[in-house]
Amino acid sequence: MLEIHIATIFPEFFNSSLRVGNIKRSLEKNLVHIEIHNLRDFTSDPHKKVDDKPYGGGSGMVMTPEPFFKLCFHITGTETPEDARNLAEIILLTPRGKLFDQATAEELSKTKKKLIFLCGRYEGIDERVAEYLSTRQISIGDYVLSGGEPAALVIIDAIVRLIPGVVGDYESVEKESFSENLLEYPQYTRPENFMGYKVPKILLSGNHRLIDAYRLERRIIDTYNRRPDLFEKFIQKKENLDIARRFLRNFLLDSEKNDQTR
Ligand code: ADE
Repeated sequence: MLEIHIATIFPEFFNSSLRVGNIKRSLEKNLVHIEIHNLRDFTSDPHKKVDDKPYGGGSGMVMTPEPFFKLCFHITGTETPEDARNLAEIILLTPRGKLFDQATAEELSKTKKKLIFLCGRYEGIDERVAEYLSTRQISIGDYVLSGGEPAALVIIDAIVRLIPGVVGDYESVEKESFSENLLEYPQYTRPENFMGYKVPKILLSGNHRLIDAYRLERRIIDTYNRRPDLFEKFIQKKENLDIARRFLRNFLLDSEKNDQTR
């Protein structure tokens, strides 16, 4: 069973989000165990204060290291950061971290260690938490959140759905976007004609060879247009480059034609 711990000063943030969908199912099936810990319970400050003024001056407050260290010792039953890190993957959420991706989700979903997510307020956490306690620092994107909590939730969701037994159709999880550096193809359902907006004809043809080719073409063209970074990775493989060339040649010729007739 994957054991997940969350360290936060806002435990209530997670109240409803863990009670729906795949995360709820993973908890009910005992595939995952999640515990939320209030950092204020792990401070020796008589007023349960968890932040203080920054050394060197500057605006805002900085979260003190003590609650983070004490909580990790409590969760792992250890007394030193080295021992805690041996027993747990201690993840600090910060915009200064390594960018989260599907490969990291897959790696974390397979870990034998406990997962501990350290959520701080954005203004800052004493750097000794990053340096001496955490095993990795993760950012979910190039934007600033008010705190690590939404980031922890994003990562937990991405990890949990990769655990076999959580999503009914595991094969569909394995085939999704990013597993092959291509975006997923678009989906349509009934009605065939909605307010005059029609489903692409080819999907109604019953010809699965043509449908597969159409879907692959959409994946390649959408990735090329929207995510040049992913496309670059996709064409690293020689056989993918050949496929991409074939589909894109038609696409680029078509868009040239359209430009000329405009
Ligand atoms: N905390 C604040 N912003 C963040 C981000 N983009 N990713 C992870 N943690 C954060």
